[in-house]
Amino acid sequence: MYMTMLERANAYIAANKDRVDPRYRPRFHAAPPIGWINDPNGFHFDGKAYHLFYQHYPYAPVWGSMHWGHWQTADLLHWEDRPVAMAPDCEYDSFGCFSGTAKPDGKGGAHVLYTCVYKDENGDLQQQAYAHFDGERIVKSENNPVMPFSMLPEGFVRQDFRDPCLVKTADGWRAIMAARHNGGTSLVCCASRDLENWTYEGEFTATVSSMPECPDVFDLDGKTVVWYSCVDYAGELTWNPRPVVYSVGGMKDDDTRFEGSPLAVLDYGTDCYASQSCEGLNGERIVISWMASWASAFPTADLGHEWAGMMTLPRVLTRCGDQLMQQPVKSMQAARGEEKTAHQQVDGGHALRMDGLKHGEIHLAAEVSAAKTLTLEVMATGDEAVRLTWENDVLTLDRSALKLCNENRMAPAMSMPLAAKDGRIDLTVFVDACTVEVFANGDTLTALAFPEGEGYGVAAKAEGSAEVELTCWEIR
Ligand code: FRU
Repeated sequence: MYMTMLERANAYIAANKDRVDPRYRPRFHAAPPIGWINDPNGFHFDGKAYHLFYQHYPYAPVWGSMHWGHWQTADLLHWEDRPVAMAPDCEYDSFGCFSGTAKPDGKGGAHVLYTCVYKDENGDLQQQAYAHFDGERIVKSENNPVMPFSMLPEGFVRQDFRDPCLVKTADGWRAIMAARHNGGTSLVCCASRDLENWTYEGEFTATVSSMPECPDVFDLDGKTVVWYSCVDYAGELTWNPRPVVYSVGGMKDDDTRFEGSPLAVLDYGTDCYASQSCEGLNGERIVISWMASWASAFPTADLGHEWAGMMTLPRVLTRCGDQLMQQPVKSMQAARGEEKTAHQQVDGGHALRMDGLKHGEIHLAAEVSAAKTLTLEVMATGDEAVRLTWENDVLTLDRSALKLCNENRMAPAMSMPLAAKDGRIDLTVFVDACTVEVFANGDTLTALAFPEGEGYGVAAKAEGSAEVELTCWEIR
């Protein structure tokens, strides 16, 4: 029987998803039913539910010919697998439906822009395509590619013109893409009134230091925020070669150009990339990211578990001056199971230990004026543990005691600022089988971690002495 590419992908998933090994599967993060995922795509709220699409190769846990997978969720916590929404089934996108964005159409559907890739003897030809999502299916425009590469001036590179961010303006639409040209790399802007006919407007930002990917542009509390992910970043901000960096400022020249503050990093961990945001139920800004990057390792693929890649927790974004702050979405609290609390003076001889927690949330509040260091261990069994150590107002996550992390050459340690206030520190950590996400003072640090042991112990230890209160909830 003849099947379309889309039918074939969905039939493969239905027939094979039970082969996925549950060992490292998350409980409250979005993960694919089977196969590979990378970037979040087309994240939007349609008035009733959130839709999140994603870069997906269903047939193996490795990057391949990109489809768009699809989840739907009402609470940003329970992600319902929906049928694969797009397959690379047209000549112009036959090498893949790469990343893109969606904006609600006000009628329950959404306008979608994505990068359609065609490959020939000269390599990738990256162009932009329009499609419409009706709530169930994504239907591609007959006029694709609506932003052909040929619309760019001389000097641009056809292999690097991608990841359109669709923005609504007073007079129509703007699309912001990542691009490379012979003078460097930048974000570029195109404009349209009808989403099918586009004109090139020029560079949206000044030349940026590394090839950008997945730009996002949105208003937050009266200012415009722009962020993008970096390929091979080598600047001063971070040693992480794949950070997401942002700037806060405003749109100029009929919304075709952006000027903003110096760049800052969005997350202090190594496993957070291709971040995408949408406006939520109450007008709040919600961000979700691929919980990995091209510098990450994917042990679940090598272990034969048949899946690789997942999303971070969705987070609510606020702004304090030119700084972005992230908090877990409120719905997380509704999923908490029984609360367990312990309170103790912790020092060289006395650690505070709690029951194992494989899928849960941990709060640590501590008085640290008499402590040199304070360490929270998670995923602890035997010699293994992920250690979060506060020292000199910096929190360092160290996963080097995990054999699988070492074998896979995962960056051993990473740090975020954590200033004590009035001698106290406060942090929240979510653990979900193979994830550690730290929230502290509006900053976040996101890291994958693959313990061999099943214990997932939690403990607090100190050099000097600290008064520690630990609260744990299983997330259901
Ligand atoms: C970012 C990225 C995008 C591209 C997609 C391909 O992770 O490289 O630039 O559209 O992944 O899967």
